[in-house]
Amino acid sequence: MIKYQDDLKGVTAGRLGGFFVGWPNPPKPAAHLKLLKGSDLAVLAVNGGRVVGFITAITDGVLAAYIPFLEVLPEYQGRGIGGQLVKRMLRRLGKAYMVDLLCDKELQQFYKKFKMFPATGMMLRNYANQSGSRIQP
Ligand SMILES: CC(C)(COP(=O)(O)OP(=O)(O)OC[C@H]1O[C@@H](n2cnc3c(N)ncnc32)[C@H](O)[C@@H]1OP(=O)(O)O)[C@@H](O)C(=O)NCCC(=O)NCCS
Repeated sequence: MIKYQDDLKGVTAGRLGGFFVGWPNPPKPAAHLKLLKGSDLAVLAVNGGRVVGFITAITDGVLAAYIPFLEVLPEYQGRGIGGQLVKRMLRRLGKAYMVDLLCDKELQQFYKKFKMFPATGMMLRNYANQSGSRIQP
């Protein structure tokens, strides 16, 4: 049975794995755990102690929030877990004025179900840092 949690209780690097599918230089589970801890909000989908899906948000606590990551392990996709993670995160961000994320065009239909709408944006990617590094403030 899939359980959802709003905290990182019981989560160790050993319970994270298999994420960042398709990334040439993915973060290791230890870096994944660090990014979960460093996020303002995280919601996890857990099956028998194993993390099978996660969503994170970064927020200024007043107006804006950004959702950098949403991923469900391939063998768990298509069962509503991704939708649950988005729903639960948007509920937690219910007082934010703006909630933004970037996604591929094919996923716009998925996010439209949550009243999100397409926009244009800009982004920068430093691929040398893809596996994780310490970001200085
Ligand atoms: C996007 C993702 C989180 C959805 O998780 P999930 O548990 O499969 O989501 P759900 O079962 O709740 O819903 C699946 C929906 O997503 C849609 N979807 C998932 N991947 C898709 C893709 N690449 N193209 C188009 N639609 C896609 C499915 O068609 C389905 O739509 P439906 O509910 O109308 O049938 C998952 O596919 C994933 O981890 N993908 C890889 C990482 C990624 O792309 N993350 C999003 C970053 S913005």
